[in-house]
Amino acid sequence: MRSVFINIGPLVSFRKSSAPSLENSVEPSGLGIVVEEGEIKTIKDSQELIDEYSIPEGRHSLIGETACFDLEGHAVVPGLIDGHTHLLWAGDRSKEVSWRREGKSYAEIASLGGGIQYTVQQTREANDEALHLLGYQRLREALRTGTTHLEAKSGYGLNVESELRLLEVAERLNNNAHTPTIDHTWMGAHDIPRGQNVDSYVDELVSEQLPAIVEQNIARSADVFCEPGWFSVEQSETVLQASRNEGLALRMHVDEFADGGGGALAADLGVETADHAYHTPMDVRLKMKESGVNTGFLPGTPYAMGDAWPNMDEIVDESIPFTLASDFNPNCRTLSLPFMCSLMVQRCGMHPLQAVAAVSVNAARTTPHPSGMPHGIIAEGAAANFNIVDGVHWESMVLQPSSSPFSATVLNGQFASH
Ligand code: NIG
Ligand code: FE
Repeated sequence: MRSVFINIGPLVSFRKSSAPSLENSVEPSGLGIVVEEGEIKTIKDSQELIDEYSIPEGRHSLIGETACFDLEGHAVVPGLIDGHTHLLWAGDRSKEVSWRREGKSYAEIASLGGGIQYTVQQTREANDEALHLLGYQRLREALRTGTTHLEAKSGYGLNVESELRLLEVAERLNNNAHTPTIDHTWMGAHDIPRGQNVDSYVDELVSEQLPAIVEQNIARSADVFCEPGWFSVEQSETVLQASRNEGLALRMHVDEFADGGGGALAADLGVETADHAYHTPMDVRLKMKESGVNTGFLPGTPYAMGDAWPNMDEIVDESIPFTLASDFNPNCRTLSLPFMCSLMVQRCGMHPLQAVAAVSVNAARTTPHPSGMPHGIIAEGAAANFNIVDGVHWESMVLQPSSSPFSATVLNGQFASH
């Protein structure tokens, strides 16, 4: 089966250079795309495709095995990639918003029985079917706002059995026709389970959880919450080094509430991505850049928690490599990358192309597609994942935070209903 898309409006392809600029990333109206077997085969002038396939006038036509779609000048952008989600958890922590308004900090809420520990208890009590359904609904919601691939962390299990179960349920949700594909991360080091001390838990992570994860070959990466009050720099390094020795890629949560040295460790280890990083000092950001470490900014967290925004102007001026992701979790309950882009563009002064690049071409570097195909770009040989904007300007995808800016998403070469 072949699909041909003609009369595309502005095409944000990112196919011409690794350093996105308006000149080299957005191609003028009039191109067409041919897709076969989940792969973009050809991008060329729409009229040439109309002649080649003898496409009649009309929005849709089927010519033998070739389905043709006239996009009538609508803009097209790559399938979006969410490089940081806590996809699977059960329970509801809505009451914490009242506690926060009463002045309680994240750490105080945790000590009152809320926070990650509460979600761990609720998640352990949920059965596999309930978790699978929650995951499926969340993936469908992510697709609705244009996400075609996302990273999903475990981390609400905090013991061998529960962490494995979260990764197994996530794997069952992977590679379905109507949901984004998944890049799996083990995050046993998300918190210290109740009744255990941090040193004995670090031992458990390295000597029990990690070997079980590796034996089942069920995660590509490991992640650690490196933050004062959770895992120290030394403890984080122990878990990350052991994970690297077992062949896992490394990700980190760093400097979310304070500069606790997490960014510096990320630079020393050369991890793939160090996320949050709101309090990372500029000299450390520059070291991270030198070591090839991506920064994953998660604007939904300060949005949800009322914390300070990072100064994005400095970061852009210093060419710090960064992505944007949702950090979907019990406090930050949105999977919408267009919303993240809107926050950055409409509240932090970011250029819209920079925001779109941060959830597509840049995110592909830290969150590869399971097929090994390039994605986050629209190019010949890339995965056929792209979004048809509900309008003729690609910029409108960063200006519609409350609804999906896309009229359709092509996932693995097929129209996926929203
Ligand atoms: O990335 N900071 C650590 N983990 C999550 C939040 C987890 C939670 O509060 O349940 C995050 O923001
Ligand atoms: Fe997170």
